[in-house]
Amino acid sequence: TATVNVFWHVISQDTTLAGGNIPDSMITDQMTVLNEDYAPSGLQFVLKNTTRTINWNYFNQAGPETSVQTQMKQELRQGGVADFNVYTVGFTAPADVGLLGYSTFPADYAGSPTDDGSVILFSSLPGGSTERFNEGKTLTHEAGHWVGLYHTFQGGCSGTGDMVDDTPPEASPASGCPTGRDTCTSAGLDPINNYMDYSDDSCMTQFTPGQGTRMADQLRTYRGISI
Ligand code: ARG
Ligand code: ZN
Ligand code: CA
Repeated sequence: TATVNVFWHVISQDTTLAGGNIPDSMITDQMTVLNEDYAPSGLQFVLKNTTRTINWNYFNQAGPETSVQTQMKQELRQGGVADFNVYTVGFTAPADVGLLGYSTFPADYAGSPTDDGSVILFSSLPGGSTERFNEGKTLTHEAGHWVGLYHTFQGGCSGTGDMVDDTPPEASPASGCPTGRDTCTSAGLDPINNYMDYSDDSCMTQFTPGQGTRMADQLRTYRGISI
């Protein structure tokens, strides 16, 4: 087993909950969900500290590929390549509405971690206001990218897909919780219950052993973490 330090950055536009100023209790509940979901993989996360920043631009405009997110991380990121930085924001820019989160991958930022971490919608935390996506599985999913996992629908029905051999291939992202979905003729039903699909939070229940092996390899190779 291995333990990863978490540096949590609460970004808000004002001091209200609706403005992103989530209470410590929501973060604690999210950490519990995260640790339950990663327990079978032997990875655990410990909250080292929480910073609070009121910044309208960061809260509203920190979408992927923006200079705002680069600036936010440059200002706030803590620790090294083995440390997990999480930023909760609002994603209100038109291009980002509906976005739940995004992450860097281990191979991208080894040795130069300034941009490394996950940025997630604050209302996706357990008890948050985003319907169907408020049980904390967004952070489980984004942390999955941070430990080196791809989507289960990566590459569709053919090719190397997600580089994991016990997640059956899937033509496209699942949504809702579609029992019996089977979009590829190759063996196996679509892995709709996998944390790396796009199903509803209530539908997401597992990583496979193969994903556990891949995350262990990725973490050892790029982050110096041995599970
Ligand atoms: N769409 C986001 C991504 O690709 C996150 C999906 C999270 N899904 C969920 N049920 N919370 O990174
Ligand atoms: Zn994803
Ligand atoms: Ca199939």
